[in-house]
Amino acid sequence: MQTSPGYMLSNADQGERRRLAAIEAAYDPGSRRHLTALGVGHGARVLIAGAGGGSLVRWAAETVGLTGEVVAVDIDPRFVEPLAAQYPNVRVFRQDIVTEDLPGGGYDAAHARLLLGHLPRREEVVAKLGAALRPGGGLLVEDFDFGSYGPAEANEAAAKAIATVAAFVRSIGFDTSFGRRLPGVMRRAGLVDVDAEGLVLTLRGATFPLEPMYRQTFDKLLPALIAAGQMTEQEAADVHARFDDPEHDMCTQTLMSVWGRRPA
Ligand SMILES: C[S@@+](CC[C@H](N)C(=O)[O-])C[C@H]1O[C@@H](n2cnc3c(N)ncnc32)[C@H](O)[C@@H]1O
Repeated sequence: MQTSPGYMLSNADQGERRRLAAIEAAYDPGSRRHLTALGVGHGARVLIAGAGGGSLVRWAAETVGLTGEVVAVDIDPRFVEPLAAQYPNVRVFRQDIVTEDLPGGGYDAAHARLLLGHLPRREEVVAKLGAALRPGGGLLVEDFDFGSYGPAEANEAAAKAIATVAAFVRSIGFDTSFGRRLPGVMRRAGLVDVDAEGLVLTLRGATFPLEPMYRQTFDKLLPALIAAGQMTEQEAADVHARFDDPEHDMCTQTLMSVWGRRPA
């Protein structure tokens, strides 16, 4: 199954598991905190959409125990399939969440992280995830907002490169302000008690834990930008050099964690 248009990366890419591990290391503590607050505990039934590397599937399987259930959906579930063999309470589905019906319903909680910003019809998918909950069940959606993304100190070349990248990903269908729009999207999908929190990290060249995520993404993006005439070879080389510069600080995109409940 192909990834949706707009999702440029693929779990089949070399180095992708490393990129996913970086995302998990940076963002799992917050996601686990929000999911726990939404009621993911012993006996809960949880849906994880776009499960990726599977660390949250593993955590949820251990948290809900044998009286609970974790359903993981991914268009390419190669990294989560082994978890179904390891945990009797995990089921894995190879599905496109845009075009296909979600497996089952009546979930106590559902989660999607760094997925919907890439996808077409993302607002419909939020509504679909909300409708898969039991009354009173909780939805956590986490996506980037690009407002904070840029060099920490004045650096015209770095700022220009990021603006170019942001414009390019928008042109292929990525919503760079989906994170900030999510509370409204969730309310329009009929969810209540909607609230949000944002996380910005500082990336320091050569040392930041999210480096594999950015490097893997840029390894794919920069050649596309050069081919489109939007960046020169030298500008792309400068982007890579900044990844190795321990004096270069960058602020990440804001990961907006947005939650709400299906009305009881
Ligand atoms: C950036 S990764 C994020 C993984 C995980 N949610 C995390 O934050 O650690 C996006 C994941 O969504 C999956 N994906 C992309 N398009 C999809 C679609 N249309 N339906 C289901 N999964 C999709 C990808 O295969 C990948 O595993």
